[in-house]
Amino acid sequence: MYSEKVMEHFNNPQNQRKMEDPDAIGKVGNALCGDVMWIYVEVGENEVGKEIIEDISWETFGCTAAIATSSMVTELAKGETLEKALEITNEKVAEELDGLPSVKMHCSNLAADGLVEAIYNYLDSSNKEIPEDLRKRHEQIEQHMEKVQEEYGDYVEMEEEMHRTG
Ligand code: FES
Repeated sequence: MYSEKVMEHFNNPQNQRKMEDPDAIGKVGNALCGDVMWIYVEVGENEVGKEIIEDISWETFGCTAAIATSSMVTELAKGETLEKALEITNEKVAEELDGLPSVKMHCSNLAADGLVEAIYNYLDSSNKEIPEDLRKRHEQIEQHMEKVQEEYGDYVEMEEEMHRTG
């Protein structure tokens, strides 16, 4: 059912840890299952002064596909400029994992959306210009989060608690 690559990332997830002092956090949930994910980013600069994802890590309450996609999205984004990181789509993540079963494609949203939210929150909190496209994506993710909260409020609270104390 899962590709070898998915199982590789599931069994040996990359960058899975809570970051102590991140520049920004992206938190997203999945309205189909109530699973939640956190992406942490540290932003630095490359040799030509462009902002890049210097470090990135994640934590998730999710299934095999959510874990593999979280691991893969952080591998793809690390060291990239913010613009390049924003070009990483769910489809690209799934493709890099040699595909996901169609019933599991929704799980890949967590990873790509988490990255978008972390970058949005970084630009927002440092009062930098937010591209219109990114603002729109953030608004959609926010609406989606409201649905998650409505449908799975208690479950999400439990995940939050475990995340805080874990
Ligand atoms: S079933 Fe919830 S993220 Fe996959």
